Amino acid sequence: MKGKSYVKIIAIESSCDETAVSIVENGRRVLSNVVLSQADMHALYGGVVPEIASRKHIECITALTEKAFADAGLSKNDIDAVAVTYAPGLIGALLVGVGFAKALAFALGKPLIPVHHIRGHIAANYIAFPELEPPFLCLVASGGHTLLVDVKSYTEFEILGSTRDDAAGEAFDKCARVLGAGYPGGAKIDALAKTGDKTKYKLPRAHIDGAELDMSFSGLKTAVINLVHRAEQLGEEIDKASLAASFCDAVCDALVPRAMAAAVKTGRKKLAIAGGVAANSFLRTALQNASKSYGIELFFPPLSLCGDNGAMIGAQAYFEFLQGNTAGCDLNAKATLSIDF
Ligand code: KG4
Ligand code: ZN
Repeated sequence: MKGKSYVKIIAIESSCDETAVSIVENGRRVLSNVVLSQADMHALYGGVVPEIASRKHIECITALTEKAFADAGLSKNDIDAVAVTYAPGLIGALLVGVGFAKALAFALGKPLIPVHHIRGHIAANYIAFPELEPPFLCLVASGGHTLLVDVKSYTEFEILGSTRDDAAGEAFDKCARVLGAGYPGGAKIDALAKTGDKTKYKLPRAHIDGAELDMSFSGLKTAVINLVHRAEQLGEEIDKASLAASFCDAVCDALVPRAMAAAVKTGRKKLAIAGGVAANSFLRTALQNASKSYGIELFFPPLSLCGDNGAMIGAQAYFEFLQGNTAGCDLNAKATLSIDF
């Protein structure tokens, strides 16, 4: 690989309910990006069923990989390395991708690059913003994680604050479920909230003494559930749009001031956002307004790169590869692993 100026990596992502394969050149240029969401299937059960997720990944991963090669107009020998999300995520789902990627790398005689899923979410920004380079701050808000990270280099991360309990996306999904909006709930709550009055329902804002950048969403989630159940018992009508708007406002109040405080604390002037919740329109507007008044340059990836996808894994993989972070055939999946491992 030495001296080669264009490095093409095929990346496999199967940590939750999207099977995704992408080919990315030099961490920034997407040559193909195939994503198959299982959301409709899991919606029947009100949330992701891990066993079903694993089985669906197995069913489609080979065909999606063929499509990724075809869309990019490349043959298998044109790629330089195989990358895969190996942590964190649903263990059975991760194992499908890891097993497949190991076999592909072995068969092609190419290096295998293990990628941390949350590092991948952050790297979605490298695709959207070719000029963006570390150091910068990143607010990561997904279905399983919510954290503020100092991205010191492409492969060095310091967690400045994180949720003590539920992730923001999890709270969105539970709120949607109790309002009967369906799964996955974040986008549905976002749409519902557009016609609501955010001042109508008073929802709690958690504050953790001595850990100003840490967050908590379980109290907010419980408050919404209790409010809806109480109204049902009393036979009262819930103004769903206003409850959704009040909920979005509470989430923004948790995330935006902490992101600004993290910028003040570290002196960073660039803030990126990442993860499924980064698609939230209220969060985007609130961050835009706050960033302007704090003199911070804000980066948010397009909606297509906020949710799980293979391109973000291929982007991060390139930088891991440059650091020599490759694995052998003994690579295993891990359900939990901190970003600063
Ligand atoms: O990053 P992601 O695709 O998967 C994980 O790694 O978890 O995030 C999925 C989460 C779900 O909880 C989903 O409800 C939420 O992102 N989400 C949103 C929006 N779109 C997706 N939350 C709020 N507003 C949205 N527009
Ligand atoms: Zn994700």
